[in-house]
Amino acid sequence: MTKRNVKVALAGAGSCASSFVQAVAASALTCGEGQPGVMYDRIGGYHLSDLTFVAAFEADANKIGRDLADALRQHPTVAVQHVQVPDTGVLVRPGPALDGIAGRLADVVDVAPAARTTTVEDVTAELRRTAADVLVCFLPTGATHAVRAYARACAAAGTAFVNATPEAVANDADLAALFEDSGVPLLGDDLRSHLGATTLHTALLDLLIGRGLTVKDTYQLNVGGNTDFLNLSDPVRSASKQASKRRALTNAGIDATDVAAGPNGYVKHLGDRKVCFLRIEAENIIGAPVAMEVRLEVEDSPNAAAVIANAVRVAKAAADRELAGVVDPVCAFLFKSPREGMSEPQALAGFRAFVTAVQTEPGDVHAPLLFTASLNNHSLVRTA
Ligand SMILES: NC(=O)c1ccc[n+]([C@@H]2O[C@H](COP(=O)([O-])OP(=O)(O)OC[C@H]3O[C@@H](n4cnc5c(N)ncnc54)[C@H](O)[C@@H]3O)[C@@H](O)[C@H]2O)c1
Repeated sequence: MTKRNVKVALAGAGSCASSFVQAVAASALTCGEGQPGVMYDRIGGYHLSDLTFVAAFEADANKIGRDLADALRQHPTVAVQHVQVPDTGVLVRPGPALDGIAGRLADVVDVAPAARTTTVEDVTAELRRTAADVLVCFLPTGATHAVRAYARACAAAGTAFVNATPEAVANDADLAALFEDSGVPLLGDDLRSHLGATTLHTALLDLLIGRGLTVKDTYQLNVGGNTDFLNLSDPVRSASKQASKRRALTNAGIDATDVAAGPNGYVKHLGDRKVCFLRIEAENIIGAPVAMEVRLEVEDSPNAAAVIANAVRVAKAAADRELAGVVDPVCAFLFKSPREGMSEPQALAGFRAFVTAVQTEPGDVHAPLLFTASLNNHSLVRTA
């Protein structure tokens, strides 16, 4: 049997992309087995080592024209180089810059002239030429028009779209319908870090709410030193991220309307480290107070890579099974702003059910029955 692979394209070759490419390179050394942080050795039949990078798009003049592996090491990317990535053979191409570089990012990135003239059709043509299965959108937050442009290019090319950004794609009814009509899977929006502030915060809220305590107040303050935090230090650019974080807390069962939860500052000294200060105040039986404070320190970009390692293989597994449109059953676990919000345990159960369902071969006649049995609360659209 020929070895199946997943052809991956990247929009944005910054810190998250760097960690993700490193994770795939690391998995080649272990044949995709047993890497810490990787929840499943196989999803839909694919190891992480079955991923191949076939295309990459950038707006940064300093990255375009370089091999992807080389581009990912360039200024202003600060992701830690844990793994030496050999040349990939993929030259980074200009993508439509649109609103990708704005605010404080414009101080550290020169937009390539070619990126100002590249069109959606150019991206579609490259995705078709390389037969890309899945594109991961790692654009800066606030790049509303650019993210939508890549989404449209993917729908036209038949390439599944994974939206790591908080810009609305899965949550945009028109774009979701476009993917459904085009027979292409769509996952989003706003990647949830694997063990990050949102995941820890919602897990703690779930613990308190599950034991009947009343959550009275909470906040979640985050600082970091990568270009994501530099970009998010502009309130205009961070609006969608703040909204997305509050949506995640609402889905965890609290009224998050006035909760401070967001990126709260760029601290260059931290580089790719992110520090989260989190406080929860709650009321126990007969009004007894409970308060907790947590300081979480993580390396930011590998935390995204661990989730993308799941998302890309889920997207390909969905495409293999001719599922089209938003893959709702997995989005609540993988993203902060899924279309259908769920509590932490429900989200994990939905994700596990999907992975179990796609462990059968796509052509297996029993596969549709498994979907129905394990995902009975969700409608998945089949194109066939
Ligand atoms: N743990 C995490 O780091 C995490 C978690 C959840 C979501 N996210 C989101 O993932 C996204 C990427 O984060 P990052 O840390 O890699 O950011 P980054 O700034 O390191 O990378 C973004 C890259 O996109 C490029 N770019 C800008 N406009 C472009 C365009 N029009 N076409 C192609 N490339 C373009 C930039 O030049 C840059 O290289 C952000 O939206 C972030 O909020 C990150």
